[in-house]
Amino acid sequence: TVANEPHRPQFHFTPKAHWMNDPNGMVFLNGTYHLFFQHNPGGTTWGPMHWGHATSKDMMHWEEQPIALYPDSLGTIFSGSAVVDKNNTAGFGKNALVAIYTCHNKAIEDAKTGLHQYQGIAYSTDEGKTWTKYEKNPVLPNPGIWDFRDPKVRWYEAEKKWVMTLATKDRITFYSSPNLKQWTKESEFGEKLGAHGGVWECPDLFPLDYNGQKKWVLLVSINPGGPNGGSATQYFVGHFDGKTFIPDNPVTRWVDYGTDNYAGVTFSNLGDRQVFMGWMSNWQYAERVPTQNWRSANTLPRELGLAKSGNDFILTSTPVKEMATIINKASVLQNITVNTSYDISDKIQAYNGKYVVDLEVDGQKDIALHLTNAKGDLLVIGYEKAGNAFYIDRTKAGEVNFEPGFAKKMTAPRNAQGNINLKIIIDAASAEVFADSGRTVLTAIFFPQEPLNLLHIKATAPLKVLKLKHAGIATAIK
Ligand code: FRU
Repeated sequence: TVANEPHRPQFHFTPKAHWMNDPNGMVFLNGTYHLFFQHNPGGTTWGPMHWGHATSKDMMHWEEQPIALYPDSLGTIFSGSAVVDKNNTAGFGKNALVAIYTCHNKAIEDAKTGLHQYQGIAYSTDEGKTWTKYEKNPVLPNPGIWDFRDPKVRWYEAEKKWVMTLATKDRITFYSSPNLKQWTKESEFGEKLGAHGGVWECPDLFPLDYNGQKKWVLLVSINPGGPNGGSATQYFVGHFDGKTFIPDNPVTRWVDYGTDNYAGVTFSNLGDRQVFMGWMSNWQYAERVPTQNWRSANTLPRELGLAKSGNDFILTSTPVKEMATIINKASVLQNITVNTSYDISDKIQAYNGKYVVDLEVDGQKDIALHLTNAKGDLLVIGYEKAGNAFYIDRTKAGEVNFEPGFAKKMTAPRNAQGNINLKIIIDAASAEVFADSGRTVLTAIFFPQEPLNLLHIKATAPLKVLKLKHAGIATAIK
């Protein structure tokens, strides 16, 4: 229950019990959002992977369902995606849900041939309740690449074919198929581009529109090698012609600079919307975080968009509009001058550790939000003019000693001009910071001794806050 589990987020998905990592197979079908996830039902650390399952009508209230995919003779079930087969290309039925995932075979792995990861498919004709594995799995055998996994499949309408984006060690390999069963290699991307501090995992490729211009975005998670340590997700914006992806600009950009957003991908079958969710943890310490019966939450679902930075396109992330349904009535303050410290603790206390703060400041000056409690735990979220960077500092935010790198101040370079705006969403043990309307994002988890119920805005020089809006969030889970 909530009382016994102070670190369980309330409006983010968490498994009832046991271990979770990557979100998998996120898909919308007949009014229901489906979330599958890497799950070890046998413990609170990583282990034999299954696909857990949860459903929602609004992406805010999730209901956990029975496990969807169990390990079989081909292996355990690693990450992958799901599609709605509207044209019955695979012959499993019109509008069948088809999951495309990596089979991970421990026995072959132990033999060290490097052939232990290959792709399989399974289908459901009852909206994800029951699943049948395709009898001729694997559909994509391993060509001799140790890391060969995490297929993300989408329909490419221009050529009426499926495109699979696959993480293949230090690059992405694109495949295509008419029927989800036979796959042909199209091209490779990235061996010499982007960040390579770790293995490439969990990619995604999708189009986004910018004022009528169509761009393609490629997400690539890497572990380790993230901008603030451990695992993180980079992206490229460019052009895709059904075969080859060409980035506009080879610079490495990050979906989220915080330490706790990994392996995120987008929902399938949402029309033109690209809604992203990530795993709100980091391989550096995920198995050691101080929760007892369960481990890990997902990020909020985030609407992805494009914005311009000079001549370049950058990705923007903002909480989905559906979030409005769980936000209580807001209080708005305007034109406050913060000389050194401004206290809104009396308002924040009532929110019991679950709230949203929107802030717009005049200009670009140092600003720090101190989130604290009576026990003295302190989480600082802010902007520093000297380095032109946003940050989250969790070094004193409660339990930090379970892993040497956890106590840290993480930073994100600003990628905008003019007045700063910040949207901060707190859910018991997580902070999601959307700066400059989602142009820069930081997500961090933390483990306070009690909710961070006190909030002070701090300034180093008189600061004009044009707008300060705050609201509690209705508890969503049962
Ligand atoms: C990413 C990942 C994937 C893999 C899965 C295994 O976090 O390592 O590459 O499929 O987790 O659980």
